[in-house]
Amino acid sequence: MRRLFPVPAETSAEASAVASARASAEDREWGLGELADAYAYPEPPHGPSGAWLRANMVSSLDGAAHHDGRSKALSSDADMRIFGVLRGLADAVVVGAETVRREGYRPARAREAFAERRAALGQSSAPAIAVVSASLDLDFSRPLFTEPLVPTIVITGATAAEERVGRARAAGVEVVFAGSGPSGRVDAAAVVTALAELGHTRLLTEGGPTLLAEFAAAGVLDELCLAVAPLATAGDAKRIMNGPELREPERFALASVLEEAGFLFTRYRRIYQ
Ligand SMILES: NC(=O)c1ccc[n+]([C@@H]2O[C@H](COP(=O)([O-])OP(=O)(O)OC[C@H]3O[C@@H](n4cnc5c(N)ncnc54)[C@H](OP(=O)(O)O)[C@@H]3O)[C@@H](O)[C@H]2O)c1
Repeated sequence: MRRLFPVPAETSAEASAVASARASAEDREWGLGELADAYAYPEPPHGPSGAWLRANMVSSLDGAAHHDGRSKALSSDADMRIFGVLRGLADAVVVGAETVRREGYRPARAREAFAERRAALGQSSAPAIAVVSASLDLDFSRPLFTEPLVPTIVITGATAAEERVGRARAAGVEVVFAGSGPSGRVDAAAVVTALAELGHTRLLTEGGPTLLAEFAAAGVLDELCLAVAPLATAGDAKRIMNGPELREPERFALASVLEEAGFLFTRYRRIYQ
């Protein structure tokens, strides 16, 4: 992996700074600690929502967010390494129910590589997974709900089916209500607020495209970590955001670009007007 942007500065008089700048420009495998330093969340106070919502997505060159209904075909070893690091830094991972169903989500693991860092920040050993669902059409007998290290959260609307809410709770799920729309729909901004109220302010969303478009439309997406895979797929797969067009395009500033094996790992931060 190489850092392409910001271009490592070599003007510092300090030998160690020069050495580390050279090291990050070299094509070599970055350690998990190095990646964790590179992707550390900003210090609080966070964005206007009270939390920092980062998204991590992968796209083909032609904009597909999945191939054959899953994202695996677009991913790579380096992509999975960064995926793991971003989880290792997060308090909670927010994900849409369709991605949980299609990708067969399992609980997040506690990883030795991040244990010290997490303990120092007062984080649990692994991030909580927070599933956003209106229908609650989820298999609550799965390990994601019955065997997590940290109870899985399901975020739904106040009008969600009571019987399904009961089934979720019986499995050990923490059910959070965030919205009063019809048929259990939630308000995307309220998802962020609700998680922040539970103490989860370093938020990572892994999509999918429907949920991510809702976060963008609600104006609560602070950062986008977008991996561009050197692949073309054509077809009609969703883009990384799939929802109604925003009235005005949101502006983001490039924060960093890493490269490995032709994959670009970009990181953009929202510019608040
Ligand atoms: N390229 C990538 O990085 C990436 C990342 C993630 C996923 N994916 C791919 O994307 C596909 C799935 O994405 P998707 O866009 O179809 O689905 P999604 O965004 O993962 O999930 C959509 C579902 O989330 C729930 N939801 C979303 N907004 C809601 C709201 N406001 N209120 C209540 N519930 C809400 C609903 O669940 P209910 O139906 O239960 O009500 C909805 O059907 C899969 O093929 C997956 O492999 C790609």
